[in-house]
Amino acid sequence: MARDGQGRIEIIIVDLCQNYYWTKMEHSIKRINSDNETDSLVNKHFQTNTGKGFVEVGESKFCLSAYYEEYRNELENFQVRDSDVYLVAHPKTGTTWVQEMIWLIVNDLNYERAKAQKNYIRFPNLDSALHREDSKLLAGMDFMEYLNQLPDPRCIRTHLPWSLLPKQIRDGTKKPKIITVIRSAEDVCVSYYHHFKLMNAYTGSFDEFCQLFLAGRVCYGPFWKSVLDIWQHRHASNVHFITYADMKNDLVGAIKDCAKFLERDLSENAVEKLEKHLNFDSMRQNPAVNMMGIVENISKKNNVPIDGRHFFRKGIVGSHKLEMTEVQIERFKKWTQDSLEGTAMDIEKLGT
Ligand code: A3P
Repeated sequence: MARDGQGRIEIIIVDLCQNYYWTKMEHSIKRINSDNETDSLVNKHFQTNTGKGFVEVGESKFCLSAYYEEYRNELENFQVRDSDVYLVAHPKTGTTWVQEMIWLIVNDLNYERAKAQKNYIRFPNLDSALHREDSKLLAGMDFMEYLNQLPDPRCIRTHLPWSLLPKQIRDGTKKPKIITVIRSAEDVCVSYYHHFKLMNAYTGSFDEFCQLFLAGRVCYGPFWKSVLDIWQHRHASNVHFITYADMKNDLVGAIKDCAKFLERDLSENAVEKLEKHLNFDSMRQNPAVNMMGIVENISKKNNVPIDGRHFFRKGIVGSHKLEMTEVQIERFKKWTQDSLEGTAMDIEKLGT
């Protein structure tokens, strides 16, 4: 990801003010009721897993499961350690892929453990309890207790935007390493649509999904607000940006950059072995990461047949071109331009 470097004092001051604002403020929480056509679609199509509905949080109106209300204090006051590594990314940007890369680099390429233990046990989600009733327990423990008892160095992932991360990260009391991955909005939208059909029994059309995504009414949206939330912190020495497109174009380079950021030395042989492990087909077949156990449970619960579908679906850059109409693509282009106006984000690098 390009760094804009010189002469952007104005942006930095705005960023700092915004960060101060987000650090200090108590976020408002408002229930998403079926007050208009878009919100009626939210409540109609996205109910299956929690049955709880959704809330919008803070100035950016982040759309989260209504369980957020129950957990906000625990998330806010979560005890961060300087030795932690956080993966903070919007859903469907390639989180699971980057998660496996980080875990193996941090854990001295321990492939035996990586195969023996599911990724969500060794690299848990901070916000897992927001998604499903059964996610409140992890390895038989309350999920927060589980996170608290993990030995150093902990690897923790979250889809929460920066402004809703634990306070100790936002106010800089703790400085864990933070990695994020970004991907084009169009590909994220298509991937998320298939995810919701597979994992949440989404009942609407693809066009309705696009409408909801653009309106910021799909869980963890609005997408660009979430991306820009962490983008503001790109110059911090403890933050590392990765793009899905860079991982696809040069996985070896991405592995080396990530290892450097994590202060781990990897031999050329080690990098080559890790590249093979992280390859799409290899991950798709690996039961420790391919999420198929969870997909099977959800499919039974929701009574939606899997029909040969996978969590690891296509794994390509530009998959939206196969599924979006010209009109939808144009709508996304315009929305992206408007959302990114005045920022230094170069969307060409996202592989649109
Ligand atoms: P597609 O649905 O476009 O295939 P997340 O982990 O954030 O939910 O992201 C899932 C997306 O990352 C899916 O995209 C998935 O196929 C893709 N992905 C996961 N592992 C990958 C890999 N090894 N190579 C390429 N893409 C991968």
